[in-house]
Amino acid sequence: MTRRIFNFSAGPAVLPETVLMEARDNLLSLGGTGIGIMEHSHRGKAFLEVYQQTEALCRELAGISDDYAVLFLQGGASTQFFQIPMNYLAKGETADYLVTGAWSEKAVEEAVRFGTVHTACSSKDRNYCYIPTEVKYSAAPKYVHFTSNNTIFGTQWQTEPPAIPSGSFLVCDASSDIYSRPLDVSKYGIIYAGAQKNLGPSGVTLVIIRKDLVEKGPKDLPVMLQYRTHAKNESMYNTPPTFGLYVMKLVFQWIKDQGGLSAMNTRNRDKADKLYRHLDSSKMFRATADQSSRSRMNVTFVTGNEALDKKFIAAAEVAGFDGLKGHRSVGGMRASIYNAFPPEGVDALVNFMKDFEQKGG
Ligand SMILES: Cc1ncc(COP(=O)(O)O)c(C=O)c1O
Repeated sequence: MTRRIFNFSAGPAVLPETVLMEARDNLLSLGGTGIGIMEHSHRGKAFLEVYQQTEALCRELAGISDDYAVLFLQGGASTQFFQIPMNYLAKGETADYLVTGAWSEKAVEEAVRFGTVHTACSSKDRNYCYIPTEVKYSAAPKYVHFTSNNTIFGTQWQTEPPAIPSGSFLVCDASSDIYSRPLDVSKYGIIYAGAQKNLGPSGVTLVIIRKDLVEKGPKDLPVMLQYRTHAKNESMYNTPPTFGLYVMKLVFQWIKDQGGLSAMNTRNRDKADKLYRHLDSSKMFRATADQSSRSRMNVTFVTGNEALDKKFIAAAEVAGFDGLKGHRSVGGMRASIYNAFPPEGVDALVNFMKDFEQKGG
């Protein structure tokens, strides 16, 4: 039996064990085909079936209507940072960005190459430890972009931002909380997410996009950067990341077997509540995000003493808890507890923290 430890990595992140075992079983031969999953042609019957099931499960889980195209692209969420403004923002036009962390900042950096960016809110004044309650949209933004979960800073929008100006559409970078809770896709123009936290391995980017928008982008862009190319060709204009799509299918099936997005919501709420409850009662550790803005995916915390943080991370590693070091811009610790992270891992961490504290570090 292979030894597995508790992996708190922010991404790529832990995957359900049943998914890994099924993928392992199909590496040498997918079903009875005699050809491994990574070796099948993307144009062949066996892979097309996988692809269709991946899309069908993706749609079923979030109730995605036929008004939306579901695309599986490459280039990560970082490519969407520029592909979206490249398609929907021209010189002289404005898009509104809700700036709640480093990833929102990166999205802005790309958007300003194409048009004007209006910062509708920002929590930079307190190192992004909260989600602003006041949002001031510009008069007629082409679209409004926000990051639903701030992976680095451990904050999360608890609901969608306030109603956006009419004529605009809502764009969400949901990389670190996609399918962690129920999602009303009809409120969005575009939702995008790198797969490597909640949906599968790195290398696939899920883009859920309203079909009228697919047709609106300019036709003189490189074909790979036009959404219509991928919508028309069922994400197979070029060779898709076949293995990633296959694992995504298994992850979607796992989510469905657990009871779907509402079950994910309960599972994630319970895990996060347990960890925050402990942080709130501890005399040694404290959460860094404001209570009202806390993320259920990335729990960031500190002791307030850098040397003690380091000692804790080192001791945790020895005890079999990996990936707890916080991002350098926040310091301290970060426990990433995405969908697949097991509840027992949170229990074990809380017990370890109690023990560490009791022994005075
Ligand atoms: C919220 C968020 N957006 C975007 C990214 C960048 O994603 P990618 O590495 O897929 O480009 C990340 C990666 O951690 C993220 O957490």
